[in-house]
Amino acid sequence: MAVSRVLLRGLCSGAAWRTGWAVRGKMAAGGAAWGARLQERENAHGRRRMKAAMAAQQQAADVDSKEKAAENMKRLRTFVLYRWDPESGKDPELREYDINLDECGPMVLDALIKIKNEQDSTLSFRRSCREGICGSCAMNIDGMNTLACLKPIEDVKAEVYIYPLPHMYVIKDLVPDMSNFYAQYKSIQPWLQNELTEKNEPITKEQLQSIDDRARLDGLYECILCACCQTSCPSYWWNSDRYLGPSVLLQAYRWIADSRDSKTDERLAMVNDSYKLYRCHAIQNCTTSCPKHLNPAQAIVKIKNLAGGEPHVH
Ligand code: SF4
Ligand code: SF4
Ligand code: FES
Repeated sequence: MAVSRVLLRGLCSGAAWRTGWAVRGKMAAGGAAWGARLQERENAHGRRRMKAAMAAQQQAADVDSKEKAAENMKRLRTFVLYRWDPESGKDPELREYDINLDECGPMVLDALIKIKNEQDSTLSFRRSCREGICGSCAMNIDGMNTLACLKPIEDVKAEVYIYPLPHMYVIKDLVPDMSNFYAQYKSIQPWLQNELTEKNEPITKEQLQSIDDRARLDGLYECILCACCQTSCPSYWWNSDRYLGPSVLLQAYRWIADSRDSKTDERLAMVNDSYKLYRCHAIQNCTTSCPKHLNPAQAIVKIKNLAGGEPHVH
């Protein structure tokens, strides 16, 4: 009996144990499903959160790129360039190039170099020093003759129109033919002449000047022969074959005014001509356009005063 009770208890307790585990198993199974559901909910929530974060990120990037595009639009500048290739057989034309100013140096010459490097390698223009010293990048920018390397792009408020120096023959694009200008410059004998050079003797010692004599060359020796003044002079446009023009006359005066030079009278006689000198009508376009802030019109007046003679008027 005791055994059967024990057995019964054992059986009962075994059944209860089994039942307990079954319940616990059921509960555990229920818990796992609930956990899975919970996990699924958390995953879905996480996905939604991630989606929202990505959308916000995308929106910010969109706004950013829109702002950048708007900013780029603001900094975009159109350059309208005179183009002509004599070998093409076509007429000259104006061609447009857009430049993002954020990716370009500040001067017009920087833009031309960028256009040539990145958009159109056939573009021709002269340049060398990039410092306003050599005079080779002279051209007509925004209606004024000036040096491209000294002209800030920001000074031009709309499209930047660029032509070669006016009233000159064009070799190609922005490259004018300077042959006549250089021949005229050569004609005024732009070198020091005195007793020594006349006898063809070497100058073996310094040619001293007083401080005042040296000061007379200020405003003259700085001329870089860019021809901006020369090609902005209406008289030179119409008489460039006979009128020497402001640049060449300023250079002539530079030697006339030099105390070390003994050919003053000959130099004055050389230019004292109704065309060479007296085609200047003192309108001063030349002085307005000089990128070195020189005053060729004043130099011409000084030559006229020294030459003294009444010119023969045509
Ligand atoms: S001042 Fe004389 S050189 Fe100068 S632009 Fe006038 S005409 Fe030409
Ligand atoms: S005077 Fe001025 S504009 Fe004329 S050639 Fe000299 S630097 Fe150029
Ligand atoms: S590049 Fe020399 S003056 Fe402009």
